[in-house]
Amino acid sequence: MKKHEIIVCMGSSCFARGNKATLQKIKDYLKLNNLEEKVVFKGNRCFDKCGKGPNLMIDDKMFHQVSEENVETILDQFFSIFRIY
Ligand code: FES
Repeated sequence: MKKHEIIVCMGSSCFARGNKATLQKIKDYLKLNNLEEKVVFKGNRCFDKCGKGPNLMIDDKMFHQVSEENVETILDQFFSIFRIY
């Protein structure tokens, strides 16, 4: 089965505006949900979309204005994980 790919922008703009924290959040998320084997997770240089950042790419879809607060929702929706809080 093909692995999903999550790419977090490590360019200076996105990194400084939140992707540093988002990176850790994604790592924790993948571990907690046993997704580490199913996902290739990596950083990338600037996507040339700094104005819309912080940016995150999941497979072929780019997400903008990603934050430590909303990244979990983005991942939940992508992986169709439903939670009852
Ligand atoms: S630094 Fe992320 S798109 Fe430029």
